[in-house]
Amino acid sequence: MSEVAQRTVGSGIVKLIGNTPLLRVRLFEHEHPNVEVYAKAEWFNPGGSVKDRAALSMIEDGERSGVLRRGRTIIDSTSGNTGIAYAMVGAAKGYRVKLVMPGNVSAERKALVTAYGAEIIYSDALEGSDGAIRLVRDLVAADPDLYFYPDQYSNPANARAHYEGTAVEIMAQAPGRITHFVAGLGTTGTFTGTARRLKEHDPAIRAIAVQPEESFHGLEGLKHLPTSIVPRIWDPGLADEIWGSPTEPAYDLAREAARTEGLLVGHSSGAALWAVQRLLQTLRQGLIVTVFPDSGDRYLSTGLYGGGHLPRHG
Ligand SMILES: Cc1ncc(COP(=O)(O)O)c(C=O)c1O
Repeated sequence: MSEVAQRTVGSGIVKLIGNTPLLRVRLFEHEHPNVEVYAKAEWFNPGGSVKDRAALSMIEDGERSGVLRRGRTIIDSTSGNTGIAYAMVGAAKGYRVKLVMPGNVSAERKALVTAYGAEIIYSDALEGSDGAIRLVRDLVAADPDLYFYPDQYSNPANARAHYEGTAVEIMAQAPGRITHFVAGLGTTGTFTGTARRLKEHDPAIRAIAVQPEESFHGLEGLKHLPTSIVPRIWDPGLADEIWGSPTEPAYDLAREAARTEGLLVGHSSGAALWAVQRLLQTLRQGLIVTVFPDSGDRYLSTGLYGGGHLPRHG
């Protein structure tokens, strides 16, 4: 069957998760002609981000194990994209969804999850994503039978989505031998799942993880591990390097990608580009694959692309 037919005939929305394009990034090509850079365009997922993969994987894992039953409400803490993904998959599969979010997440994110019918519970903005984690744990402990709590920071099905999906797609799509993999760290699912599979395939592949340079930052979706609750799924042994991206240079690179390549990407894609640029200083040739987790249109009110004010996350 042709790709068009496969994607349209009788498919529910969740069937469209994954199989995102691998785009050539030409931003650095002029100065580094012997290094090819590619990015997984994760905003092509139906919920608009890489987190569709993790949400679907954790929800279907819950269904298989029997922990997620009819009548239970899906609840989790989320800085945004996972919430949108839970809300979309929950709506498609007929589950109620409750999301605990820091009060300062972008207006677009709040509006989106509400549009999918999910309920938001706000945690203290000053406590960042850790405050949301603490609040959801309290809610679940108070009423354990009401909820299915996937706990994206501890759930192996999060990283498995990337081990079985993202990485396998990258290996099939890359037009040559991959030398480096670069990805940002939030729950760490994308990095750990993908890097684990890529290194099994070719142990010579170097994996570079990117976190915000400081605890107080503007890179929505990413976590500064030294000052955060460390996700249980994090496997530091997979990272050959862990680099800290500054906020403004990451924003500048996101803006440059939009203006010079038509790639309207979000904050954390800018951080990935910052790490790719740093890596290029040390490379003569190679093939780098990175992940662009979401699109810039999700941040238009935040000032990433002008107007609005820039948020800070801790
Ligand atoms: C925009 C964005 N970038 C990057 C990430 C990090 O992905 P992961 O949680 O798989 O580490 C997230 C996670 O929520 C995100 O929303």
